[in-house]
Amino acid sequence: MAEQRFDLDRRVAIVTGAGAGIGKAIALGLARNGADIVVCDIDEPSVQQTAAEAMSYGRRAEAVRCDVEHPDQIEALFARTDAVFGSIDILVNNVGHLVRKKPQDLDREDLLWVLKIGALATFQCSQEAFRRMAPNNRGGSIINISSIAGATALGRGNLTHSVNKGGVNQLTRELAVEWAKHNIRVNAILPCQVLTEGFQRWLDSPEFDPNLMTNFLSGIPMNRLANPDDMVGPAVFLASDAASMVTGALLPVDGGNLALNAGGSHTW
Ligand SMILES: NC(=O)c1ccc[n+]([C@@H]2O[C@H](COP(=O)([O-])OP(=O)(O)OC[C@H]3O[C@@H](n4cnc5c(N)ncnc54)[C@H](O)[C@@H]3O)[C@@H](O)[C@H]2O)c1
Repeated sequence: MAEQRFDLDRRVAIVTGAGAGIGKAIALGLARNGADIVVCDIDEPSVQQTAAEAMSYGRRAEAVRCDVEHPDQIEALFARTDAVFGSIDILVNNVGHLVRKKPQDLDREDLLWVLKIGALATFQCSQEAFRRMAPNNRGGSIINISSIAGATALGRGNLTHSVNKGGVNQLTRELAVEWAKHNIRVNAILPCQVLTEGFQRWLDSPEFDPNLMTNFLSGIPMNRLANPDDMVGPAVFLASDAASMVTGALLPVDGGNLALNAGGSHTW
């Protein structure tokens, strides 16, 4: 008999940035495992497509246009979820951007923008989720899509990314500690480089130095980049009762990248 603890039947999940990439893969993965989903994105047609795919699995799905940079749009996203489903059990904070520049060339506004869309939106969405999960100890699972960049430095103009994801990681730990008594679990997934459409566009652009690919792969013992689909199993696990004692965890989904010492090697 299949393991029931991974079953997300009758759970409602919100996934931000679910029109493409990792967010879309996770939203559809949660739906395949039984969850009804509210998916938001700045790109309305793409997120409607995600909702349509979830409905084709027999799940209920609502697509909402929402730019998480704007607090009023986050409030509207949760109000819409209340109106359609009346509850929320799972929140996946997925949206994240970076401004790739040398630290000495960064404007204050670059960092502010990345933090607004990243750590600050993650914080606000988590608060909105808390207000719905805490009463009567309903509980819930919050999953933040962080990065290996939140745990170690990458260099190469990644300061905004690292500072933002470092903030997301600490937010994850603090909320996990504060909200454990409400039965709300808060965890983060730390991917290595993931071959999303957006990442592929960067690989194909003139600004990408092809030598970097060798660099990426030499840091990943599994010897490949991740796919959005690699994030689905870990997200379903963290969302489900199978992870009932897991909170405050920063889970690398990185093919061994964070396990590898900078002076180490997986080729010899
Ligand atoms: N792709 C990678 O290599 C990689 C690696 C580590 C971590 N991550 C993290 O994973 C998350 C998802 O990354 P991705 O590569 O799948 O993203 P992506 O750039 O492919 O975008 C995903 C979706 O987010 C939507 N979006 C963008 N800005 C938004 C906003 N302000 N409000 C609402 N929706 C918005 C986009 O329209 C898109 O549909 C990010 O937090 C990213 O930092 C990605």
